[in-house]
Formats: sequence, structure tokens, C-alpha cells
Amino acid sequence: MAIQLPPLPFPSNALEPHTSARTLEFHHGKHHKAYVDKTNEAIADSELKNADLLTIVKSAHKSGDKKLFNNSAQAWNHDFFWNSLTPRHAAPSGNIAKLLDRDLGGLAGFKKAFKEEAVAHFASGWAWLVQKDGQLVVTSYHDADTPIVHEGVTPLLTCDVWEHAYYLDYQNARPKFLDAYLEHLINWEFAAANLKS
Ligand code: FE2
Repeated sequence: MAIQLPPLPFPSNALEPHTSARTLEFHHGKHHKAYVDKTNEAIADSELKNADLLTIVKSAHKSGDKKLFNNSAQAWNHDFFWNSLTPRHAAPSGNIAKLLDRDLGGLAGFKKAFKEEAVAHFASGWAWLVQKDGQLVVTSYHDADTPIVHEGVTPLLTCDVWEHAYYLDYQNARPKFLDAYLEHLINWEFAAANLKS
């Protein structure tokens, strides 16, 4: 069975004015869909044709199949990104708030570190909040690279910093997109649900 393009977890206009419906329709309906379609083309006649997406990403990474890795990891990262966003943004609470205080200087420290990491990331890639060895860490990976193929790293939140994520709304102003993400769009409930106990 082919992998599917998951629907957005909210209507395409739900993140306005911070991210336009036009951006989401292109980003999900064209970019994300293309990664899903190319993954399906690549696995059509292979032993991975009935595998789930996570298995495909890990298998492509292990075998060194760069084309399959890039497309399948991008499909996985985009699904994780949509779930990292919400139209009902609220400040983090409970255990994740305590861990932010302990490891990153609270919410303000997290925002500063995440913005710096995402803005400084050269060219295309993804900024992440991850859990590593029990600690919260802000990091970024290039192109399609993803925490799920890194030993002992659990992804909690991501922000797509490929230019297609923000160009229609913010042109080349990546810092403005990061401000919108950090102040209005993060789904802290999703991040909290991803915490390893
Ligand atoms: Fe993207």
C-alpha cells in the first residue's frame, strides 16, 4: 500500500494572518505531496512497497539510498511540522514548562535559542526542539535530515526553514516567519505529548 498525504490538522486558512492559506495550500498540496508521490514512485517495485513511512525513512538511511531518504524524510518531517502548529496556540505548561525552565532558561530562553538556530541555519533545513539524554536541546538539521535517524534523539517540535515555508508571506525575511512561529503558532500540547518519560 502506498503511503498517503495526511490532511492538514486544521483548515488551510486557520493560521492566518501568521501563515496564509495560499502558503499552506502550496506547501502541503504541492511540496509535501511531491515528497509523498516521489517516495511512492521509488518504493513501487521494492520490498518497501508495503512499509510504513517511518520504516521507509530508516531503511533508506541505513542503505544509503539518498533519493528515497530525501523524499521519505521530507514527507515525515512535513507531517511532523503540521502537527507542530496550531491555530489555538497557548503557552507551555506542566512537565514541558518545567523542562524548558531547567534546560533552556524557560520559554524566553527557548525562543531566543530557537530563533538564533533557525535564522543562522544556512540554506534549507529544519530547526528542532528535541530531547536528548533526557535534556531538551535546540538544534537544526540540513535538507531532509531528521532526528528519527539519529540515535537517542526524540523530536518534540519542528519549524521548516526551507524558503518555500515562508516566501509567499514574508519573502526572504526568515526572522519574521520565526517570530510568527514562536509567538503564535507552536503547538505545545503536541510537544508535550512527544516527551519521553
Ligand atoms: Fe517544506
